[in-house]
Amino acid sequence: MASKEIPFENYFSLDDETCEARIAKAKEKLGDDLVILGHHYQRNEVFRHADFSGDSLKLSRNAANSDAKYIVFCGVHFMAEVADILSRPDQVAILPDLAAGCSMADMANRINVDRAWEEMAEVLNPEETITPITYINSAADLKSFCGKHGGIVCTSTNAPHVLDWAFSQREKVLFFPDQHLGRNTGHKMGIPLEEMVVWDFDKPMGGLTADEIRNAKMILWKGFCSVHQMFQPVQIDNFLEKYPETKVISHPECSFEVCQKSDFVGSTEYIVKTIADSEPGTRWLVGTELNLVSRLNEQFQSEGKSVHFMSPTVCMCSTMFRTDPQHLLWVLENLVEGHVVNQVSVDTTTAHEAKLALDNMLALPI
Ligand code: 13P
Ligand code: SF4
Repeated sequence: MASKEIPFENYFSLDDETCEARIAKAKEKLGDDLVILGHHYQRNEVFRHADFSGDSLKLSRNAANSDAKYIVFCGVHFMAEVADILSRPDQVAILPDLAAGCSMADMANRINVDRAWEEMAEVLNPEETITPITYINSAADLKSFCGKHGGIVCTSTNAPHVLDWAFSQREKVLFFPDQHLGRNTGHKMGIPLEEMVVWDFDKPMGGLTADEIRNAKMILWKGFCSVHQMFQPVQIDNFLEKYPETKVISHPECSFEVCQKSDFVGSTEYIVKTIADSEPGTRWLVGTELNLVSRLNEQFQSEGKSVHFMSPTVCMCSTMFRTDPQHLLWVLENLVEGHVVNQVSVDTTTAHEAKLALDNMLALPI
């Protein structure tokens, strides 16, 4: 008789050490059938089990190139969706805790983006004048919107290259959901701030006049990351007053003012690499998620580097933190028993259109 799916209740009260040993055993049993991908924001107890770690771009390439039958994504929901879209139909993408979403991704949805596109059509012909770009931190149906309308996906690593591509197609860009990544990238490429407008999805016509829409080069969605918006320029000023030799590095989801005060701005992978490559003894102030910053501090202490978190208050990504060793063990032991739990699966039509936009991104030379 076939065994029954193991319920999560059996794992709820297991301690981390027990999980650690059993995860290793389950990985061994699953062998090449399994690949675990881990985003840099994952807690250490989960991150250490990842076969590949990285930022969103690196992990999406890992997912696309993996041969494993099961892709267990220790990250958030949109990442598992991308893994499902880019992998073969016989591969299975799994998210250990399905409640691990992304609050920024939720700030744009197909209803309000479709409505924005229709409203823009009252002023100009968007199909001829606007390339839609969705940050990879978005649901699959927004990637499909971009695929359908000649657009593209971007990540924090390749945003400048994606913007170049977008402007080579049409004269304007609609960038969602993160206004900060859009603004920081556009500014870096020399687009004046006056040519960027913010589309407030709660207001008719995005709260903009027809002329504002006509004159804009970039239309930025009014979305943001609640974790990265906690970082403030004054936190940099206060730290530099005490330790003037500090190098400041931030994620481009931080505000324009924070990024302007930073010596370096880039994705999580870029932050890891820049600190790893720095001279021994360097002091760093970092504007990104706490789990990553704490890990970097531990990792590079032996080289005399000190890595500090930018905010005096704790700002973790609570959804990234949802993936714990208990959930990871639960999905793995079910796989050992032949049960797939927490599969993330994108319907065929959405996946097909979303893949057009993802492929446009993956075809770029970065
Ligand atoms: P990265 O692609 O830089 O890892 O960013 C993902 C993310 O969600 C940052 O908040
Ligand atoms: Fe989303 Fe912000 Fe968490 Fe990144 S840090 S996954 S953008 S909520």
